[in-house]
Amino acid sequence: MKITPIYYEEIDSTNNEIKRLIPQGISEGTVVSAGMQTAGRGRSGHDWTSPPNVSVATSMVLFPKEVNVYHIPRLTLLAAVAVSMAVEQLYGLKTQIKWPNDILVHDKKMCGILTEMEAHKGEVDYVVVGIGVNVHNREFSPDIAFKATSLDLALEEENSVTPTHCKDVAEAIWENFAKLYEVFLHTEDLTEVLHYYNERLINRNRRVRVLDPLGEYEGVAKEMLPTGELLVEADGQLKKIDSGEVSVRGIYGYV
Ligand code: BTN
Repeated sequence: MKITPIYYEEIDSTNNEIKRLIPQGISEGTVVSAGMQTAGRGRSGHDWTSPPNVSVATSMVLFPKEVNVYHIPRLTLLAAVAVSMAVEQLYGLKTQIKWPNDILVHDKKMCGILTEMEAHKGEVDYVVVGIGVNVHNREFSPDIAFKATSLDLALEEENSVTPTHCKDVAEAIWENFAKLYEVFLHTEDLTEVLHYYNERLINRNRRVRVLDPLGEYEGVAKEMLPTGELLVEADGQLKKIDSGEVSVRGIYGYV
């Protein structure tokens, strides 16, 4: 896949902008990044704050026409692995992954991913993978301050003086992602990253609360499956949790 970068100093949301560019015929692998977002969006209708020049806000468009529409959410988990690899390669920081796709360092969230898809008649029109990484951030709004961190803060905690650069982070993420995506197009599952992902899965063997719309319950998270589902042991039974329908949270706080 050829990666074609487009950069804006300021945009409402890189996910929104790349969607606006699709009708102009942009090719798969086009990436929109921005120095700041005025209306960045997170999962579950939350806002995602991207103040000027302190973080990565980047989105890639994909046209996986051959992939089964039900397998598309797995791309978010693939993107989480790409971010984790990028951070570890560039800065030697060990990352943790909170299922399905938050990237943490030292138990705090450093990156979030919002994947959006348009499909009709069971066929994928496009997928937009949007990634936000806190790089130089030093302050967070009071509602997230207890659970948020940035690359700089995490590196300082390790007494590292390695300078970080938003551009390097974005480039490394998409290079990793492009490689993983090529394999995914053949397998349509997460076998290639399963070991890597589960090694970093922060929920592993921890009690979680499963926020199932049909009834919440508690259990112990075991591992992610090649389908992207989280295996949870509850009441002596193993249950498969689908990230599209159900979320989990730690019972003692964020993780
Ligand atoms: C989350 O954890 O809630 C997901 C956050 C995703 C934020 C990124 S920043 C780049 C892209 N553009 C957006 O508007 N959102 C995503």
